[in-house]
Amino acid sequence: MPQALILARIAALLWLSVSPGPPPAQATQTATADFPVPLGLPPIPWPEDNPYSPARADLGKILFFDGRLSANGVVSCAFCHEPDHAFSGSAALSRGVDGKPGVRHVPTLINCAWHKSQFWDGRAPTLEAQIASPVTNPDEMGMTADRVVERIRAIKGYAPLFASAFGDPGIDFDRITKAIATFERTIVSGDSPYDRYVAGDKSALTKQQKDGLDFFERTGECAECHSGPSFTNEKFANLGIGSANPDPDPGREAVTGKRGDLGKFKVPTLRDVARRGPYMHDGSEKTLSDVLDVYKKGGLPNPHLDTRLTPFYLDEETRRDVLAFLDSLNGEGWEKIKPPASFPQ
Ligand code: HEC
Ligand code: HEC
Repeated sequence: MPQALILARIAALLWLSVSPGPPPAQATQTATADFPVPLGLPPIPWPEDNPYSPARADLGKILFFDGRLSANGVVSCAFCHEPDHAFSGSAALSRGVDGKPGVRHVPTLINCAWHKSQFWDGRAPTLEAQIASPVTNPDEMGMTADRVVERIRAIKGYAPLFASAFGDPGIDFDRITKAIATFERTIVSGDSPYDRYVAGDKSALTKQQKDGLDFFERTGECAECHSGPSFTNEKFANLGIGSANPDPDPGREAVTGKRGDLGKFKVPTLRDVARRGPYMHDGSEKTLSDVLDVYKKGGLPNPHLDTRLTPFYLDEETRRDVLAFLDSLNGEGWEKIKPPASFPQ
């Protein structure tokens, strides 16, 4: 497994460095290389029907930060996906226009461009398709697609931005989602000490971090699920988190209807994980050390617990090694994104 992981990482790096030029013409209008991807990540997979352009990403960023997309004028995407908290929630559960706590933790948007599905239960197939959900959820932004379009059309300053992004000033919900999704794909994290280590700089990790990496790949078998450039295999697993609650979250089962998917949640990325607690789909684990305590016990008991989780011995030194390794996944890219200086009027 460690070998497979390393090979995949090298393949990604080679793809990046020896790539002869822009990817196949039908993939993008503007070459993918236009948006610089940090070390350790493959090119961003821009969808054919929503190619990258700087104007589209800029418009998407403004919409992402604009509270006027919500019923009370305050709850922007950034209100919950906090930019200075690695685009995740700093509280255990989310809070929207009604101020009531939601049912799930706000996940990070780092490297969401590579997700095979969106949400903890994977119920949305693409970033574009995901956006209608927070916008229309009465507990989140509390709007309808039509009301959002009406509001954005009424703000005169938006028309020229749509013209630059789409060729004409027309505003509809499809374009709003395309612009926001383009911006989301630019929320990336790479060039971490770990990436520099994999790229050949053996001094990029400390001895402690290397020992932690070794535990991560071998004894802990963490890479069984946390694999690939973003440390997720994009699949779903049951760790038993929240299973002791009186009314447990069904997770993936609600999407597939399969009994065996009860309590399964999407394997999250571990990029910048040390910068964005609390953890898990319900925000129930405060620190990374708490997360390790869950794994040490082999997960939390429930009838559908993943059989790959087995209890292991974790002495204090090894705990520090693993935590130091997880720190080495703190990368660069997303932290340069700052809120817009002003909004269209
Ligand atoms: C009220 C808080 C809130 C607001 C506002 C909000 N989100 Fe989220 N977002 C969440 C929560 C909570 C989840 C996880 C929900 C779930 O898995 O069921 C989530 C999940 C996501 C995901 C899936 C990420 C993953 O790892 O699967 C994306 C993408 C996303 N939101 C983008 C957006 C965008 C774009 C907006 C603005 C249009 C937005 N969100 C507004 C709380 C919010
Ligand atoms: C069987 C697959 C699997 C294995 C093996 C696994 N994980 Fe996870 N990991 C998950 C899933 C699924 C979640 C989210 C669970 C939830 O929210 O209910 C998760 C969550 C996490 C989180 C919290 C991230 C966040 O954004 O909330 C961390 C940190 C983590 N795992 C580290 C590890 C470490 C370290 C190991 C090895 C000791 C490991 N994982 C082994 C599947 C796995």
